[in-house]
Parts: sequence; C-alpha cells; structure tokens
Amino acid sequence: MADIDEMKSEWLARVDGAGDLAALEQERVAALGKQGAVTGLLKTLGGMSPEQRQAEGPRIHGLREAVTEAIAARKRALEQAELERRLATERLDLSLPTDAGPRGSVHPVSQVMDELAEIFADLGFAVATGPEIEDDWRNFTALNIPETHPARAMHDTFYFAQAETPPPTSGRERATRMLLRTHTSPVQIRTMMDQEPPIRIIAPGRTYRSDSDATHTPMFHQIEGLVIDRGIHLGHLKWTLETFLKAYFERDDIVLRLRPSYFPFTEPSAEVDVGYHMEKGRRVLGGSEKWMELLGSGMVHPKVIANCGLDPDEWQGFAFGCGIDRLAMLKYGMDDLRAFFDGDIRWLRHYGFAALDVPTLSGGVGA
Ligand code: DAH
Repeated sequence: MADIDEMKSEWLARVDGAGDLAALEQERVAALGKQGAVTGLLKTLGGMSPEQRQAEGPRIHGLREAVTEAIAARKRALEQAELERRLATERLDLSLPTDAGPRGSVHPVSQVMDELAEIFADLGFAVATGPEIEDDWRNFTALNIPETHPARAMHDTFYFAQAETPPPTSGRERATRMLLRTHTSPVQIRTMMDQEPPIRIIAPGRTYRSDSDATHTPMFHQIEGLVIDRGIHLGHLKWTLETFLKAYFERDDIVLRLRPSYFPFTEPSAEVDVGYHMEKGRRVLGGSEKWMELLGSGMVHPKVIANCGLDPDEWQGFAFGCGIDRLAMLKYGMDDLRAFFDGDIRWLRHYGFAALDVPTLSGGVGA
C-alpha cells in the first residue's frame, strides 16, 4: 500500500508546480480522472476488509479532498495571474495626448473650386453640374460644333465603344454616342434646356482629353460660366471677368486683354489674356508688362441659344471657360500639372490646405 502522506505531498507539489491552466488540467486528470492515481486508490477501498476500510477510508478520502482543494486554489491563482497580465498589456492610457489631428488636407483643386463658388455666389451665380459621361449632341452638336467641324478632332475625345453596332454614319446616330466630356460647356446646354432665363451659373468639374505632358493631363478641371438675360453685351462679360480675377488673385492691379478669337459656340469670341511681370524669377500677376493666355469667352452664339429652345432675338448672353488647374498653379505657385494627380502625400502636405481650417475668400468680392 502506497504511503498516503507521501502521495499527498507529491501531488500537492505537482499541482503547485503547474505553470498554466493547461498543465494544471493535466495534473487533475492524472490524479482525479477515471484512470487517475487518487481515483485508483479510492477503488481499492472496495476490496478491503471492513476494519481496513475504516482505517484507510478517511485517509484516502482526505487525500482526494486535499488534492481537489489544491487544484481549485491553484486554478484561482493562475486565473488571477492571467487577468493581471492581460490588464497590464491591454491597458489604455487615457492620459496620453491625442493624435495630432486629421492627416488629410484639402487638395488645391478643391480649394480653388470653393474659392470660385464663393466669388461667383457673391455675384449672384449658382453652381450647376452635369455628368462627366456626356452625349455627343450636348458636348458638340448643340454647341454649334457639327460633325465635320475640325474642333472635334482638336478635342482628342475619349469615346465609349458602341457595342454590337456598326460605326455611326449619320448625324442622328452620332448624337447618341457617349463620350467623356471634353469641356464643361455642355453644362451650358443642360442649364438652358432645364431652366427659364435669366440664367447665371458657373459649372466647375472634371473634363477629359487624350493628352499628357507637363501642362496637360488626360483628366483636368474646368469652370464654365454662363449668363443668359435680355440686353447682355460684351461689357458685362469684361466686367464680370475682371471682378472675378481681381477677387481670385486678391490683387487690384489685374489687367485683362481681350483678343479676338474663334470658338464655334460664341460670336464674337475673345481669348482673355492677363498681364503679369517677373519678380525674383517668378511670374506675378498684375500690371501689363507681359501677357499670358488665361481663358476663352464670348457672346453665346444665337444658334446655341436656339438649339436649347430659346429665342435668340429675346435672349442673349455671354460664356467663358477656364482651366481650374491652371488657376491653382498661378495662384499657389506650382509648376507641374501632373503632380496634381500623383496622389503624393508630401506634395499635398506642402501645397494642401488644412482640413478643418479652410481659407476661403469669405471677405467676398464686395468686401
Ligand atoms: N470650351 C472651351 C474649351 O474647352 C473653353 C471655352 C471658350 C468655353 C469660350 C466658353 C467660351 O464658354 O465662351 O476650350
């Protein structure tokens, strides 16, 4: 017969030595499981004489209780240690300083669009939008750029493939052909067809042409302006552009030069140059020392007005179109257009605008 006291101290030592809950469970099975050592000892009670059982029974039961209790105590201790370990590793120190604020910044193009909306809102212009996937009719035909017009070729248009239909031959078929708009001018058509004049809108947005170098990207941004009312003349156009550019560049010495030009959708048409001078090797707008081309404009062609279902004898207007990326480059001193669309966070950190502190021209044109 195994010495029970010896067994007891052996099992209590083994239980105490269990380093984790899994090891403890192994000891429990080895001692108290079906095939366990203590269970085996309990089974011997059945084969003993009554006297022997009276003497050994309490000792064997005492052993079982001692081992059971020791296992329970060890389990509590291990669980407590595990809890403390987790509390220590998963602790969240609420006294630490918070993150340094939002990481993103406002892209210069978005900033300029906001500035333009603000300036033109002051002048009573609403913001109009149109889809970037446009049809041939609104992008070209309605703007007095017929099928055979060379301007279509100049626009390097991205057309959508027309599945399962032969290449369009007649004008009517072509009218439904879809493309990525090559300019924001189709928003003129959409607005005139949707709204009763008088109309005063700007339409900023994305435009697309198959072109790429330091000053051209396949996707770029334009802003279109359109005014339709009675008795509108070139003087209104010039005043509006001057007021807009002075507010945008935040300079009173902005000088414009209107050069006769040609656009199919305006008659007469004018290209607008802005005066600049050089300061420490950099272009600075203002004055009339040198000229640079800035935007296209003109009086809306009577055919375009008629194409939208309005009577050109009653309604006249002016329109202009301008590259937003170029406006941003001139105001904020960037020199490569492609960087606008590289998504390089370092460039944005340098040129971007704080997300929560967006500077706008809220002083306004009239201020
Ligand atoms: N749509 C022209 C372009 O992308 C720009 C333009 C010129 C727009 C004259 C106008 C305008 O509204 O009157 O080149």
